[in-house]
Amino acid sequence: MEEILQVVSALVLGGAIMQAAAMLFRVARQNAQVKRREALALEGFVHRARRAVGAARPKPAKRIENWTGVRKFSIERKVREAAGVYSFYLKPHDGKPLPPFVPGQYLTVEVSLPGQAQPQVRCYSLSDAPGSRDFYRITVKRIGEGEKGPGSPAGVVSSRLHEMPEGSTINVRAPGGQFFLDVRRTRPVVLIAGGIGITPMLSMLNTICNYGLKREVYLFYGVRDHSHHAMYDHLKELQRKHKNFHLIVCYSKPTPTCKKGRDYDHKGHVTVPLMRFLLPFKGCEFYLCGPGGMIRSITEGLKDSGVPEIDIKMEAFGPASLEPSAPPPAQARGKQDAVKISFQKSGKTLDWSPAARSLLDLAESNGVSLNSGCRAGQCGSCAVGIKEGRVRYLAKPGQTPPRGQCLACIAVPESDLVLDA
Ligand SMILES: Cc1cc2nc3c(=O)[nH]c(=O)nc-3n(C[C@H](O)[C@H](O)[C@H](O)COP(=O)(O)OP(=O)(O)OC[C@H]3O[C@@H](n4cnc5c(N)ncnc54)[C@H](O)[C@@H]3O)c2cc1C
Ligand code: FES
Repeated sequence: MEEILQVVSALVLGGAIMQAAAMLFRVARQNAQVKRREALALEGFVHRARRAVGAARPKPAKRIENWTGVRKFSIERKVREAAGVYSFYLKPHDGKPLPPFVPGQYLTVEVSLPGQAQPQVRCYSLSDAPGSRDFYRITVKRIGEGEKGPGSPAGVVSSRLHEMPEGSTINVRAPGGQFFLDVRRTRPVVLIAGGIGITPMLSMLNTICNYGLKREVYLFYGVRDHSHHAMYDHLKELQRKHKNFHLIVCYSKPTPTCKKGRDYDHKGHVTVPLMRFLLPFKGCEFYLCGPGGMIRSITEGLKDSGVPEIDIKMEAFGPASLEPSAPPPAQARGKQDAVKISFQKSGKTLDWSPAARSLLDLAESNGVSLNSGCRAGQCGSCAVGIKEGRVRYLAKPGQTPPRGQCLACIAVPESDLVLDA
């Protein structure tokens, strides 16, 4: 009986049901004095106690899993943020709660275009802190004609999204991506955004401010002028309210109406010498997002200033920063033969050199049809089977392709290749 009391107090005092149950059955088995009848009574008691304690325990919040494939969303609200930049508030058609994401991640959207059977796939960073279970926000810059060089066409999906009225439907894949803020860390964080590269930084910054995280956060934001300065009022308000947030704005081409000290802090681009001048530097973590040229020069400058590579995280919104710098090993070893890429289904065998850039670029410029979307290793649209040979990646893939396949948009050959395309 003493042992029964021991067990009961273990239950009452500790609520350690499992331990108590284990002890009970050990007791029942080991103690020859305890009759079988008593052992059964004990078992029933434990069962009832376990049910009682279980019922009293608060139910843990139900985890919302990411969905697979596409989910229909409607554009609930569209808000103008700057010249050619709109935010889109996206609500799921099914009305069910949305899974959380990590600040810095993106959505992959599929947009149908008139007269095209296949939807176009693009990635857009989530531009607000996680927290809402009802909607996601993305912020999209429309790429205009000639913006990327003389005669370049307008961006297909960004233009289409800007035309779509509130209430329109788009298909969306679940949040993903490897570029995100580790919210458990406490070191100062430096966010460096060029143009529309502000979007993942907004999510990181809003997370730090909304959740009252105490780490110092510096935002270096480079844009052309006041008309391109997205979320102006929001950033000013955060600056006023949060002592740990330091905003440094650079205008590359301020107009006469842009006022230094009010609208912006420095004329010119965001540079490493500027950061060195304003920052403690040591012990900071750096997050970069913007045009390829800016990412390259700032990354090099940070490394030259002694920032460990592990503390520099970056995301490119397109292929510009993914230039293959080294030839494949066979050529590097002095083997003069070009690397041969055979596209098996198309019956084409092509020579590859670093100038041809990715396997997707090589395929497209030689009339081999491959699917593509983000062109930055993030959406998985360009996955192609490798029948023979090896590839390497120019950037870390945002998602792992199925076994035996590679993401052609960021892959270059390591050897001769036979591809299932
Ligand atoms: C992880 C990730 C996150 C992103 N987040 C954002 C975000 O938050 N906000 C945002 O606005 N964007 C973001 N992007 C970029 C976005 O995915 C699209 O790439 C962008 O909107 C352009 O798509 P588009 O269809 O409008 O342009 P596209 O039609 O794909 O064209 C892209 C560029 O190529 C040029 N081009 C196309 N065809 C030709 C041709 N035949 N000859 C010469 N030039 C040509 C176009 O002029 C244009 O400049 C992100 C990208 C990635 C990978
Ligand atoms: S096109 Fe998106 S991963 Fe290659």
